[in-house]
Amino acid sequence: MTDSSDTDLLNLTRLPRHIAIVMDGNGRWAQQQGMVRTAGHKAGVNSVRNTVEACARYGVEVLTLFAFSSENWKRPEKEVGLLMDLFFTALHREVKRLKRNNVRLRIIGDRSAFSEKLQKRMASAEAETADGTGLVLQVAANYGGRWDIAQAMQQIAADVVAGKVASEAVNEQLVSDYLSFADLPNPDLFIRTGGEQRLSNFILWQAAYAELYFSDVLWPDFDIKALNAALQSFANRERRFGKTGEQVRIEEKREE
Ligand code: IPE
Ligand code: IPE
Ligand code: MG
Repeated sequence: MTDSSDTDLLNLTRLPRHIAIVMDGNGRWAQQQGMVRTAGHKAGVNSVRNTVEACARYGVEVLTLFAFSSENWKRPEKEVGLLMDLFFTALHREVKRLKRNNVRLRIIGDRSAFSEKLQKRMASAEAETADGTGLVLQVAANYGGRWDIAQAMQQIAADVVAGKVASEAVNEQLVSDYLSFADLPNPDLFIRTGGEQRLSNFILWQAAYAELYFSDVLWPDFDIKALNAALQSFANRERRFGKTGEQVRIEEKREE
């Protein structure tokens, strides 16, 4: 736990409503210490816990964590198996803590590929935290940005065929409405740890206007200091959304 002085460094008036994180670098972290890659995934769970609690404390509305991509099935069977086991135990073990922190858990992604047992556990963890009114924690599992867009297209096509949606009505807003977490604000801040600077097929559509922040810190080492550095960087940025800097500053002055 950390004390409230952590927040003194932050400009909390410019806090992102929604933070999305590609939690990368577990394997390299473990290998650097002469351990097997999977030890890094285990260590990464602590960073998840600390990040969730810090975001809940700061008043962030949504935190979306990339835990397993649609492409991660290509990893060695043993590593995939360990990740599934870890998922299963973490879902069970962390629920109490999530409830204590008033967090509502949601899993996004194609769950149909997971075992029955894991799917059940996902559903029960979501149900147990459904009353949470604080931070919404979204865990992306077997998630891919292209999968999300394709599943939206499939639903739209079905609704067009069924006569519920006119083809002329398909516009950006309508597509957004069919994507995962359409009911939540889009991510404002997109963090990737582990030094790599790519999206790896994470929330492609929803991150269209997110501020990108890349950190060399490997995920198991991602602590409150590293999170605060990302938040500080975000607070210092000017988001223009296509306008000029001058326009944005005039609007901000008016709002004051
Ligand atoms: C991210 O860490 C966790 C998952 C993809 C599940 P990695 O396992 O990709 O770690 P590196 O990139 O190999 O270090
Ligand atoms: C992205 O990390 C997926 C997760 C963090 C869950 P990867 O380590 O799988 O990404 P690539 O393969 O290096 O792009
Ligand atoms: Mg990686």
